[in-house]
Amino acid sequence: MQIHNLSDTPSILNTFMSELRDKSAQKDSMRFRRNIERIGEIIGYELSKSLQFNATTIETPLGNSQTVLHEKDIVLCSILRAGVPLHNGLLNYFDAAENAFISAYRQHKDNPESFEIVVEYLACPSLEGKTLILADPMLATGQSMVATYEALKPFGTPKEIHLISVIGAQEGVDYVSKVFGPNVKLWIAAIDEKLNEKGYIVPGLGDAGDLAFGNKLQQ
Ligand code: URA
Repeated sequence: MQIHNLSDTPSILNTFMSELRDKSAQKDSMRFRRNIERIGEIIGYELSKSLQFNATTIETPLGNSQTVLHEKDIVLCSILRAGVPLHNGLLNYFDAAENAFISAYRQHKDNPESFEIVVEYLACPSLEGKTLILADPMLATGQSMVATYEALKPFGTPKEIHLISVIGAQEGVDYVSKVFGPNVKLWIAAIDEKLNEKGYIVPGLGDAGDLAFGNKLQQ
């Protein structure tokens, strides 16, 4: 797997990332959602440079302009619910993309420190020969990303796969690296040190779904 860690080069992304992590700034859930969306836009722009481009002629009112435009067969797939703001950011740029949504959540059994990933809802177009962009803002253990990828297999074989994440734990990045082949690209805004005993990324930012959409009752 090819890893593109956008925080390797300091940029305006750092401002959005620090607001996402800052527990005082996190009180503003609209800003939290918008910052994830902005990061989706930035990652979308960076990822776009690796797409296939085709020569095109555009007719202006005064003549012809030669350019290259990226391939259009893109499917954006996000994991509900925390993936929604990241999905919106990617869709702001890849506005002609098709969309897939999947619900994958952690189901805690008797032991609060262990969980399994449960996939339920899935809506997906054909993926055959297309570019699949799979977005999960928090790449903690990597299990949700892998469970999603497995659930998408019956929908066809994509031409290429890009994984998008805002923050990953090194452990999760290592896990997905083992599962996905050398042609798959991971675009990520930061890779943090570790997971805690509950599977949260440290230092991370907390629970991205709750911060974006409010607390939920545990199932
Ligand atoms: N999901 C989150 O929202 N935060 C984490 O730290 C890990 C998974």
